[in-house]
Amino acid sequence: MSNAQQSSFRVLISDKVSESCGDILRHRHIAVDYKTGLAEDQLVSIIGEYDALIVRSATKVTEKVLKAGGKLKAVGRAGSGVDNIDVKAATAAKILVMNTPGGNTVSTAEHAVAMLFAAARRIPQADASMKAGKWEKTKFMGGELYGRTAGVIGAGKIGAVVIDRLCGLKMNVIAYDPFLSHVDLARIGAYSVGFDELVASSDFITVHVPLNDKTRNLINADALAKMRNGVILVNCARGGIVNEKDLLDALNGGKVACAALDVFEKEPPEFRELIDHPKVIATPHIAASTDQAQENVALAIAEQVADYLLTGAVSGAVNSV
Ligand SMILES: NC(=O)c1ccc[n+]([C@@H]2O[C@H](COP(=O)([O-])OP(=O)(O)OC[C@H]3O[C@@H](n4cnc5c(N)ncnc54)[C@H](O)[C@@H]3O)[C@@H](O)[C@H]2O)c1
Repeated sequence: MSNAQQSSFRVLISDKVSESCGDILRHRHIAVDYKTGLAEDQLVSIIGEYDALIVRSATKVTEKVLKAGGKLKAVGRAGSGVDNIDVKAATAAKILVMNTPGGNTVSTAEHAVAMLFAAARRIPQADASMKAGKWEKTKFMGGELYGRTAGVIGAGKIGAVVIDRLCGLKMNVIAYDPFLSHVDLARIGAYSVGFDELVASSDFITVHVPLNDKTRNLINADALAKMRNGVILVNCARGGIVNEKDLLDALNGGKVACAALDVFEKEPPEFRELIDHPKVIATPHIAASTDQAQENVALAIAEQVADYLLTGAVSGAVNSV
């Protein structure tokens, strides 16, 4: 690359994002600095030098940081959730916020399917028993997925991949997504049903909706009461969609045979009674934590930020400026 080709743009990457992100930006003649682990004041003191900031979830992009970014034009989130970015303050400062929700779709869907298998065959419990020196061959009776009914709530990017994989396992897949038509759902392999029918007819339920005012506590005592006895419930979407207190009651009452959870109302979770429950399988919000997903989101955000700086083209924006 010759100096003549070099743009004057500078990008700061302040979280552990794959090296490929910086490689792409440099390839597009944009200067890149990696500075991770910065405290807010440190970030505030240097952000004025940069045209764009790329983060994962560790950096808190506060109003103070955004206001200090004199020439900051964009904040790119390598991943989907933008909870760590003050989007309102960014909009007020005319700073575009972008994310890459598609990059971790397959990884998250695969984790949900892995959770279904783990729950159906009680693999974590059997493993813990083996590691405790036991050989409890008769204790861990499981259930097949084949031919059973899986209810998928939310059939967007991740839900659609889950549906595809469950169809491959020859499950009977039903789905509830009020924003998709019967035809849309049939095309991806699921039979469209209403919410009440889904919860009442499913042997396995997996949620893939965003967390918002409509979906907070979607799975509450009322919905749990309508479910089949011995249902298996998976949440790899967002904490708060399943009401944790109501879930604990349903586990204790025997309604839910197993809950497999990757996400929690508070992270790390403080509700130990739920996590420590013998019928709960818990993972620490790792559904998107694969090499492939991290590479996908790093490449995607690099291209999006470069496009915006160099040409003004916008993709994956969560605000408009
Ligand atoms: N565990 C993780 O690490 C991880 C990683 C990525 C995404 N996620 C989460 O997974 C979830 C799904 O992500 P996505 O990328 O598939 O999102 P998406 O926007 O592509 O799909 C969401 C779907 O939910 C549907 N929906 C919205 N409100 C609904 C409601 N009230 N009832 C039923 N359906 C409803 C929408 O129509 C849409 O089809 C989100 O909560 C996201 O934050 C978790």
